[in-house]
Amino acid sequence: MAVALESISVTGTSVEISGVSRVFRVDGREVNALRDVSLTVRPGEFVSLLGPSGCGKSTMLRIIAGLDRPDAGECVVDGAIVRAPSLSRGVVFQDHRLLPWLTVRENVLLALHKAPIGQDGREARVLELLDLVGLSAFAGAKPHQLSGGMSQRAAIARALAPRPRLLLLDEPLGALDSLTRSRLQGELLRLWEHEKVTVIMVTHDVEEAVYLSNRVFVMEPRPGRVRGIFDVSIPYPRRRVDADFVALRQSILDILEREATAAELTC
Ligand SMILES: Nc1ncnc2c1ncn2[C@@H]1O[C@H](COP(=O)(O)OP(=O)(O)O)[C@@H](O)[C@H]1O
Ligand SMILES: [Mg+2]
Repeated sequence: MAVALESISVTGTSVEISGVSRVFRVDGREVNALRDVSLTVRPGEFVSLLGPSGCGKSTMLRIIAGLDRPDAGECVVDGAIVRAPSLSRGVVFQDHRLLPWLTVRENVLLALHKAPIGQDGREARVLELLDLVGLSAFAGAKPHQLSGGMSQRAAIARALAPRPRLLLLDEPLGALDSLTRSRLQGELLRLWEHEKVTVIMVTHDVEEAVYLSNRVFVMEPRPGRVRGIFDVSIPYPRRRVDADFVALRQSILDILEREATAAELTC
């Protein structure tokens, strides 16, 4: 598989985040989940937001999705300020959030209920996606009959169903065993290539970020902000044992390690 950003006829959207801050009030005190975060994602890019727990990754993703609003700054997707959720932005969380009383097919179909296509078009899109994520044989299964990996595949199919131009992933593989996880990482790349979406993925797994992304935004907590940006120019498909892969992973780990030490010293 050859996935190069340059070779993709881009239909994914751009994302511009400028000066975004978000403060939560918890038990009478302020938590700076994000402070003055600015970043730009190019159309068709696969980027990761990487950092330790609590550095504001999910908050950032929720703001981009339109599920939360910043206290300051703005998030512009494809030229328009995000104010509410939209079908043009698909979201996948760590837990699959499939409706337990519906089959896999019905769960994916439900995501198309507002799509401007007829019933035949909807059914065809569902079949295409289930095939793409390897779940054709489980179309009639209920979520409790699926393994963790299969559930996440179904959740990804559901998010992609309305042909979003931006796919937002919040640790979508975080709860999976390592074997399933690395298999799904390969599948995510295949889907990215096929659907030509822009992908923003939240992860705390350095190897996952380097394996998948064109760029990695390393975040730090208290207050949540971007500490560094790494270009991953290693061609796809990447091999986790190659020297340039290992070296980049180590550089990012070093930053995270320094961050953790600094945080301990200031606690
Ligand atoms: N709805 C909320 N109410 C109060 N505090 C929140 C809320 N959401 C997030 N936070 C706080 O904001 C910080 C960042 O959280 P989050 O974005 O979930 O981080 P991450 O996804 O990187 O682990 C944390 O300290 C968290 O406790
Ligand atoms: Mg999170």
